[in-house]
Amino acid sequence: SSHFSYRRDELHAEDVALSRIAEQVDTPCYVYSKAAFTAHYQAYAEALADGPHLVCYALKANSNLAVLGLLASLGAGFDIVSVGELERVLAAGGDPAQVVFSGVGKREDEMRRALAVDIKCFNVESEAELEQLARTARAMGRVARVSIRVNPDVDAGTHPYISTGLKENKFGIAIAEAERVYHHARELAGVEPVGIDCHIGSQLTELAPFIDALDRLLALYDRLTTDGITIRHLDLGGGLGVDYQGETPPSPGDYIAALRQRIGDRPLELILEPGRSIAANAGVMLTRVAYLKPGEHRSFAIVDGAMNDLIRPSLYQAWQRITAVQQRHDVDPHRWEIVGPVCESGDYLGHDRELAIAAGDLLAVHSAGAYGFVMASNYNTRPRPPEVMVDGSDIHVVRQREPLDALWAGESLLPGAAPS
Ligand code: LLP
Repeated sequence: SSHFSYRRDELHAEDVALSRIAEQVDTPCYVYSKAAFTAHYQAYAEALADGPHLVCYALKANSNLAVLGLLASLGAGFDIVSVGELERVLAAGGDPAQVVFSGVGKREDEMRRALAVDIKCFNVESEAELEQLARTARAMGRVARVSIRVNPDVDAGTHPYISTGLKENKFGIAIAEAERVYHHARELAGVEPVGIDCHIGSQLTELAPFIDALDRLLALYDRLTTDGITIRHLDLGGGLGVDYQGETPPSPGDYIAALRQRIGDRPLELILEPGRSIAANAGVMLTRVAYLKPGEHRSFAIVDGAMNDLIRPSLYQAWQRITAVQQRHDVDPHRWEIVGPVCESGDYLGHDRELAIAAGDLLAVHSAGAYGFVMASNYNTRPRPPEVMVDGSDIHVVRQREPLDALWAGESLLPGAAPS
């Protein structure tokens, strides 16, 4: 993206050379662009501006407080999936009245906290959950606004791990049953049906599955309206894809224009829950080449970032662009396996990448702003990397590298087991 570009042979985030960030916080680290987050959010907000709407950023994609605070200041709402995410939104100054709560397994304590701060809506995924929510709300003397997450049974044509709208998935309530569940919700004290929700998958690069899902939701909306159940909003979830490897997903503008055209003059607030399309191309992960191990069969570039820092390649065979931060003209390009130091054959960031590199060079793994840091773990007792937000020529460290002793801070030896 234009927010990460080469100037005089060196990759920059906005106006900052990435080598400066590596000097300051060391590697591996995540680097985000404030202007990119802003532009990606504004593309949604501007396309939706014509009618009632709410952009509920899905913070599972990247939940750093600086990201949440920035988006909140731009007017974003949030899609949460845990009480932890709710507390993050509140800690970042987000407005609970603009929060929707998704997820198949909400616990009662999570429901209570969300009711106490009076979130906008619960996206309910089963009848059992609906009944639990109603009980919890009644006990608190509250009424929970709900959407039923409908499973429209459309094939999003995406990776099986991130496709969620087919009937064999665990998510949502089959569209054939949804109408009956809305009638149940209407009769149930403690809940008030106000919306219809769906989310069919992630990294979609075509409009057709979104439109198929919307058409099924609109048919349901029309039936409910006839039955006297007043639905105020439609929440179509997230899922718009990004360019990792030359994909050409529809822009938020084209996507939203197509949605509004189908919705027509139905008086509905339109809610979207984008995650990846706001965050992915607003970040890179920086890593340094530790050793080169050229071989007859395969050549390995061993880097200091690993699957614990960025798991998408290992977990989904995801392809993310990898480039040298400094473009060299003094060594020949060669095909490298880009691998980390973790003790697993599956620990890689990229296969068979043509790069002109030497030991000590910095590499950037692109499109790492979404599902990057948030999926990092401490496997191999590796601290999670720092996160940096660039704003013009300013560098803000928005999360420090984890100190090593924090990794076992909550652990204890067995009684009497202290080493003598
Ligand atoms: N809403 C709901 C209910 C979701 O389950 C998700 C993502 C989103 C919104 C945001 O979707 P997005 O706009 O980001 O596509 N870890 C995987 C992606 C998992 C997505 C899970 N749900 C990856 O790295 O590709």
